Amino acid sequence: MGNAAHTKSVEMELGPPHNPSFTDSDDTSSATTATAASSSSAPSSPKGGICIVSRGTVHVSALSRCGSEMDEGDETTSPNANGHNGQAFKATPPPTQQNDPYADVRQRMEALASQDRARHLHQHRRDHATSKEPRGTTVNPHSDITIFAALTTYLGYIVLIMTGHIRDICAKFFRKGRYHRHQRTLSSKLLRDDKDSIVQRPSDDLQKYAPLLKSWENFYTRRLYHRIQDCFNRPIASRPAAVIDVLERISFDGNKTMSLLGNIDDRHSTGNDHTTAPPPPTGKTTPYHSYKLGKHYGETTDGKAIRKCLNLGSYNYLGFADDWDITCRSAVLQTLVTLPSSMASSRCEYGTSTLHSQVESIVASFVGKEDAIVLNMGFNTNATIIPTLTSRGDLIVSDELNHTSIVNGARASGAAIRTFRHNDDGDLEGILREAIVIGQPRTRRPWNRILVVVEGIYSMEGEYCNLRRVVDVCKRYGAYVYLDEAHSIGAMGASGRGCCEYAGVDPRDVDVLMGTFTKSFGGMGGYVAADKRIIDMLRRECAGSSYHNSLSPVVCQQIISSFKVIMGQDGTNIGQEKLTALRDNSNYFRMRLTDMGLHVLGNYDSPIMPVMLYNPTKIAAFSRECLKRGLAVVVVGFPAVPILMSRARFCISAGHTRQDLDRALRELDEIADLLKLRYARSTFG
Ligand SMILES: Cc1ncc(COP(=O)(O)O)c(C=O)c1O
Repeated sequence: MGNAAHTKSVEMELGPPHNPSFTDSDDTSSATTATAASSSSAPSSPKGGICIVSRGTVHVSALSRCGSEMDEGDETTSPNANGHNGQAFKATPPPTQQNDPYADVRQRMEALASQDRARHLHQHRRDHATSKEPRGTTVNPHSDITIFAALTTYLGYIVLIMTGHIRDICAKFFRKGRYHRHQRTLSSKLLRDDKDSIVQRPSDDLQKYAPLLKSWENFYTRRLYHRIQDCFNRPIASRPAAVIDVLERISFDGNKTMSLLGNIDDRHSTGNDHTTAPPPPTGKTTPYHSYKLGKHYGETTDGKAIRKCLNLGSYNYLGFADDWDITCRSAVLQTLVTLPSSMASSRCEYGTSTLHSQVESIVASFVGKEDAIVLNMGFNTNATIIPTLTSRGDLIVSDELNHTSIVNGARASGAAIRTFRHNDDGDLEGILREAIVIGQPRTRRPWNRILVVVEGIYSMEGEYCNLRRVVDVCKRYGAYVYLDEAHSIGAMGASGRGCCEYAGVDPRDVDVLMGTFTKSFGGMGGYVAADKRIIDMLRRECAGSSYHNSLSPVVCQQIISSFKVIMGQDGTNIGQEKLTALRDNSNYFRMRLTDMGLHVLGNYDSPIMPVMLYNPTKIAAFSRECLKRGLAVVVVGFPAVPILMSRARFCISAGHTRQDLDRALRELDEIADLLKLRYARSTFG
């Protein structure tokens, strides 16, 4: 199934592009053509079509999808295939006064959320950037970073890089150091059986082998990442519920490698515990401890030291990890009686069970599409579906902050790729217009098809997509829309149906709806929902489905059970309570973080809350302080985000209680003082 075959069948399945002028430029007979001076604008035609200027020729084409069905600012749409009426955000009814944990702040919370929603959904990003009106609580880290924070951040990196180089030079000079390996040529020394030498690898012969690890990445890992690697890859020994057990680690080699601490009493022998008994006199080693010991210690059943932490880092949005025993457990365990944990086959061989088909039909009906396909990994869903849908001669227009899986998929497709400024529909429109006017490079032929790829909630920004505007622009220019709902499905909208429901967009207006089961559903895998003919083609052509072992039936059952809870088909209102709790917890936490004067990114109603740290030194300090105080958080630095934009990212869950969040907020308030993080209040933080 080569690329050529894909191209052909994709053309067949997706059918002709929405815009007739996207077809081969020779075939313009149906379009009224008139010679015109080249222009980069695409003015509206009287009948709602647009004038597309191509090679100095204006094609006035009635777009098959042109003419916005929804006027700007109009919040209602026609009923969609799913039965929900496609209205713009409808808040779930708040709990009654008596059982509402947020009764005292409800009014303010709702006002802030609706203000933010109105601004985000009904205002052009560009209008908003130039507007004189206050931007409320929304932070744009690129423009809001203070000069002081920017300078100290650059200075921090300069010091780290210079120190790293000085250490490397010293290690080379003194032939000693954590990372020092003798670099010799392939000489008699290397071939000799030199037991004392640490050089045993032929690849150390740099005359013959190019270094496998790229030098900058190697340097960055050794001299920057290793310094703070205790803040990442922390192993846990429990479910990713509201409270998790983080396994305690120590390093004996200056943070180059980390080891599990083992028995809790071992920490005394580290010589760094100021809170308990002094180290035993016999203990010779005093390993470097990556952070000061704090409290909240515990032990696993097999004697490993753990730290009991409030979990602010997992994607357990709907809290299925918290109440698994009462929601999904029995059905999932029951599955194992008849079905295995792996089907040992791909979907197109013997890897399809009835559960797979059931998941696909539930997904399709939940999101309001004709059909769906399920793959066993969310990342691979993007990485293999996008190349199946697009190929050479196509154009992918991608939000600049799209997830790596989308970037990988787009690159693998062979299509041309353009990026537009994050969530900026004005920039998207400009790019689409220019792409249509100019056509393909060199040949200037019209693009076969244009696919615009956006995400429901951007995982590093906590900001949701301005879907209505994106859809409007795409309709106007005949581009297909691909929406990745990894973080928004289950987490947004009154009934958890994601960004379409939240933004009041009819799912039929989004050509391809993609999502994953790893976040809100406590499962694994990804899906794509679309028209049946597209899904049929993907079943045949997508390598990620045809050549990959199918999703575990156990996971399928987890997905089915969680969907039933969300939709209330389990006979309880747990699902609705989860949705309400997630929204309330998220909005409360965001409101309080903002009140603290932190730079908080993203939107109300989004469960992801990045808080800007900026300085590289604050990444580790923040993470270690949090762990010490029993908070498990995720910190993010370069290269996952731009060099100035280091941040902590909180993920809120329906499993959190207000008491949990208040405790976290108290600790964070102290940390904000300690690390000078109140950038919204003061230039110096
Ligand atoms: C937007 C987006 N798409 C796709 C993925 C990949 O999903 P998964 O982790 O389920 O493989 C992620 C992962 O977080 C994501 O954020």
